[in-house]
Amino acid sequence: MIQGRSESSCKTTQICIQLSPRIYPQTDEQCKRTFPHNHTAAHPRHAAADCYIKVTAMPSPNLHLRVVDPADFGAAAAALVAEALRSKPDAVLGLPTGNTPVPVYEHLVAQQRQGAVNFSRARVAMLDEYLGAGDRPISFFHWLREHFLGPAGIAADRVLRMPSQPEGIAAACAAYEAQLAAWGGCDLQLLGLGLTGHIGFNEPGSPPDSHTRVVPLSPVTREANEEYWPGEEVPAFGVTTGIATLLQARRLVLLVNGERKAEILHRTLEGPIGPEVPASFLRHGQDVWIVADRPAASHLDAGVEQLGSQAAR
Ligand code: F6R
Repeated sequence: MIQGRSESSCKTTQICIQLSPRIYPQTDEQCKRTFPHNHTAAHPRHAAADCYIKVTAMPSPNLHLRVVDPADFGAAAAALVAEALRSKPDAVLGLPTGNTPVPVYEHLVAQQRQGAVNFSRARVAMLDEYLGAGDRPISFFHWLREHFLGPAGIAADRVLRMPSQPEGIAAACAAYEAQLAAWGGCDLQLLGLGLTGHIGFNEPGSPPDSHTRVVPLSPVTREANEEYWPGEEVPAFGVTTGIATLLQARRLVLLVNGERKAEILHRTLEGPIGPEVPASFLRHGQDVWIVADRPAASHLDAGVEQLGSQAAR
């Protein structure tokens, strides 16, 4: 069914609409009559996903927001990865590091042990790295190997590493892009959300036409990463897949958990699209899923409903 909630039930003058496949064909007309000023055409893909959208915040049929209980967060995101692998066993997965994806990787590894998912043919493209990290335990490569590549049994020859050697870095970044293109691009790109609105290491100011390159890290990001560099200074530069490269992924999945990310998620989805919040460019992606736990979604104007059992389909 479709349920339009009046403006007074939302925090702002925006309309929250729940779509479901059952009566999809008439939702568009009905919606138009009920909300003549805020109506945006519904889309079969939303209906098929049985998801909740806020029409004014997410006018694009390419955006899907899935809000789940914190306990369901890993399973909800892992379900999207498993789905990608089921439809394409040698899918190219773009993978981040950090705290956010930990429960997702744990869930995927457990699922593989149970035979529910199979990474034996999957390929992995790293999202970013510290400049100069090399093979040190502090590198994102090391982190990803410990937390996912090793436990999932993904061999080094199926991993596209982000270069980190300062010498010849521009050529190495171009080679990374060329190899990703030779693989046919990313089928599914997982992303975390930085407090600055960064995705990968695309810090504020990153243009939408950026490709893999070296970037200066913001003070906020360097501070957030201090826990990983005990007794050392966090590097001043990172190497990251660019916004344009990310937007070429056939599916993008933004993972956001915790109340401290609530405000930046609100700006990402409901603020202006622009380089001040690089993650906002995701709204231009072909097929974008946002998996957020309830605390992270708590600042959204949408008044998003909790999706309960739909979280892990
Ligand atoms: C890490 C990365 C970063 C993180 C982001 C959130 O590979 O690309 O963009 O995803 O800084 O980090 P956590 O998940 O630790 O909050």
